[in-house]
Amino acid sequence: MLILAIETSCDETALALVEASGGTRAPSFRTLAATVASQIEIHRPWGGVVPSLAKREHEKNLPVAFGEIEAALKGKKLDVLAVTVGPGLEPALWMGVEFAKRLHKERFPKAKFVGANHLEGHLYSFLLAEKTDQGKFSMASSKLKNLFPAAALVVSGGHTILAVMKSISSWKKIGETRDDAAGEAFDKVAKMLGLPYPGGPEIQKAAAEGNPSAIEFPRPMLHDKNYDFSFSGLKTSVLYHIQKHPPTKKNVRDIAASFQEAAIDVLAKKTFRAAEAYGVKSVLLSGGVAANAALRERLASGAHERNLAFVVPPISFNTDNAVMIAVAAYFELLRKKNYPMRANGLMNL
Ligand code: KG4
Ligand code: ZN
Repeated sequence: MLILAIETSCDETALALVEASGGTRAPSFRTLAATVASQIEIHRPWGGVVPSLAKREHEKNLPVAFGEIEAALKGKKLDVLAVTVGPGLEPALWMGVEFAKRLHKERFPKAKFVGANHLEGHLYSFLLAEKTDQGKFSMASSKLKNLFPAAALVVSGGHTILAVMKSISSWKKIGETRDDAAGEAFDKVAKMLGLPYPGGPEIQKAAAEGNPSAIEFPRPMLHDKNYDFSFSGLKTSVLYHIQKHPPTKKNVRDIAASFQEAAIDVLAKKTFRAAEAYGVKSVLLSGGVAANAALRERLASGAHERNLAFVVPPISFNTDNAVMIAVAAYFELLRKKNYPMRANGLMNL
């Protein structure tokens, strides 16, 4: 199945042409072309993503991005045209959906037209962790089968979700954030510390040279008997700390390291508590915050200690991309699921 996927839910304009096969038992994906146009430089002066600017940039980038991958389509029949319909920034999503509608009408009227869920894209990105022969991403079906049930932690700029996957096509959300998403907390704390947008990678960089036990920040909801998260109180504690101890070059590193440690501590401990309660065989990590080296290490070593498999895709598939959207669209078709073809900022997993 040849799938052209379009992703514009936030500040990346991404397109990918992906060949999918193998069904839910032995799924395999080959990327024929993929492009990601980042808008970081546009939004940086504003300290965060400005929805109207994102929309304008998507409008500008989409035809260029399509031009970049068009050659890979030559002589091939497109089976599926997929576009992210949510969740995300509605003006940004809207632009992608409108572009896809036009493309469907004018260029690929015979292709199936599929609205994809961005969070399913992140959830499924563990299938892009292993590159095998001839540029394919596939996992031996014996290995895949042994991952389930799995505890899946999806941590992005807009969401923090813990789900238990029984199989590729069946999962249950068991917890999520009650306020800020993990990535949002990283971005806001970075801003307080005077670090540029996007804050996640900047916190990681500063934290690498700081002392994670320098400041004892709270671990919100760590002891609650549920799998929900809260990052807003942690963010406020960092703010109070900064008000008392204005950031200097040295203590910025300690604050970043201590904040990162508190955030990771809650994410990891609650994930492993769920892993135990649900008797899972693996831990799957995805979303932009999964690019964080300390979080990856913490989950990898925790999984190792408990004899669980741990799967995280390479960083380019953690942050927003269209290959994962093609993967989500493929399973959506197999699951006979169909999301309405309209931008919906509030969709969930
Ligand atoms: O999944 P993503 O690319 O977009 C959304 O769907 O939101 O996630 C973006 C988020 C941002 O908040 C960004 O700061 C965070 O992922 N992020 C990181 C790192 N790289 C990106 N957070 C912590 N450490 C990183 N290395
Ligand atoms: Zn995302």
